[in-house]
Amino acid sequence: MWWIIAIICGCLFLLALFSKSDEEEPVLKQDYDDTFGETKESFSPSNDGIWIGKGMINRELSFRHCCVIAPSGGGKTSSILIPTALELNNCSAVFLDPAEELFTKTSGALSRKGYDIRILNFTKPEVSIGFNPLLTAKTNTELNLLAEAIFAQSMKQTKDSFWPMMASRFVVIMFQLQKKLPESEQTLANTLYLINCMQGDPRKVDALFAKYADQKLFEEYKAMVKHDGKLISNILATCQSTLGIFGDENVARVTSTNTLSFEDLRNEPIALYIHMPIMDAKYLSFLAEIFFHQFFRFCMSHTVTEDELDLFVIADEAGSISIKGFPEALANLRKFFVSVTFAIQSKSQLVERYGKEDAETILANSYHKVLFPGMEASLAKELETRMGKWSFEREDGKRGQREVMTISELIHLPPGKAIYVAGPKRPALITLYPYYDNARLHGKSNIDPPTILGDVPQTITYTKFPELKIVPKEKVVNG
Ligand SMILES: Nc1ncnc2c1ncn2[C@@H]1O[C@H](COP(=O)(O)OP(=O)(O)O)[C@@H](O)[C@H]1O
Ligand SMILES: [Mg+2]
Repeated sequence: MWWIIAIICGCLFLLALFSKSDEEEPVLKQDYDDTFGETKESFSPSNDGIWIGKGMINRELSFRHCCVIAPSGGGKTSSILIPTALELNNCSAVFLDPAEELFTKTSGALSRKGYDIRILNFTKPEVSIGFNPLLTAKTNTELNLLAEAIFAQSMKQTKDSFWPMMASRFVVIMFQLQKKLPESEQTLANTLYLINCMQGDPRKVDALFAKYADQKLFEEYKAMVKHDGKLISNILATCQSTLGIFGDENVARVTSTNTLSFEDLRNEPIALYIHMPIMDAKYLSFLAEIFFHQFFRFCMSHTVTEDELDLFVIADEAGSISIKGFPEALANLRKFFVSVTFAIQSKSQLVERYGKEDAETILANSYHKVLFPGMEASLAKELETRMGKWSFEREDGKRGQREVMTISELIHLPPGKAIYVAGPKRPALITLYPYYDNARLHGKSNIDPPTILGDVPQTITYTKFPELKIVPKEKVVNG
């Protein structure tokens, strides 16, 4: 009998212990539900925007963009990106989908909804659309920006930026010449070809400039090539190594033409998935960067009419690329009905890609932020401060005070929970709802992806040089 009494006493003791600690350490979830009831109203399955928590925010709010931060395996793709993609309606979408996960889980459902499913894969012409950055760049400013984007990585990697800078200038001159040639010759593969020819037989390229360049371009070319031979040779070598990727026949074919125009995305529902094999990402990421840079410029180039579609950009592993002008784009895309949701592994990944200042601007211009367990201490510290303190009545009748959530509690959030920050509002603790926990979304994600056939040309056109005429000396003398 005595042991039953002992167990009952033990239980009562434990109960007293826990209820005491409950009073001293307020139940955070309950506290949050009281303070942030409004998030419940923000998320609804009947909305038509970005999926956060147990539903979506509305479209108007979605145009203010969303940054999702979690370490690898944290649930970014399954809790935010896949549900958002599966629920898209009445818009077009561009996905940065390096692991092809978004395509596998969402293209079947989108295809069934009537979306035209397309892939951009620089190494697989058999499935890819054509995307030609040189054809897309029209003005001189755009040609300069394209060259800058091509050489951006070499600029970062070398201490001496002289060579990539000169190479970039030289490539712009070559681009300008190509703009005078037929469209089929306005490709980056042809740029590489022309530069290779220049290393081999510069007279051929001289003749090309003599035939096609206007006076101004010809003078620029002359000023460039009159540099010392060794210097020119080094510049050309830098061009060759940076443009070397266009020597790959697959990359050359995919970048040889545009088979999908950016305008098409505004006119009919299209879901375009950009695939970039992780192994090749190092060599190919600049092409994805150029795509987004040119795409965002297009988005902001004209006022959107009522019959044009909204655009959703959903970028997985966005920390693997750095898009030129991304901070400014985020600040302005809202006015052009473009919503950007991007997933990164940490804030430091953003700092590494864009530098501290731009990383801060990117975060500031993403009105919605979802921070998963495992966040960096610096982020947790910021959140702790923003969440403020919470006061409560202790057992002895005095008032106690503590942080709404401490740094440690933020870093070690329970699985399935995240912190949602909407603009200047106080951060909220939310429950995530991954697609696989939702029968309807899970069902949609199981629809097989459609078979996609690429539509890029089989052959690449290289410029034919004008015949070099050897002029007999006496003829020159005789005039
Ligand atoms: N179908 C599923 N059923 C249950 N859990 C899953 C399923 N798919 C993914 N997960 C869980 O989600 C986690 C990965 O989530 P994911 O969204 O890919 O993370 P991230 O995109 O942040 O790398 C895995 O660790 C796994 O536990
Ligand atoms: Mg992922």
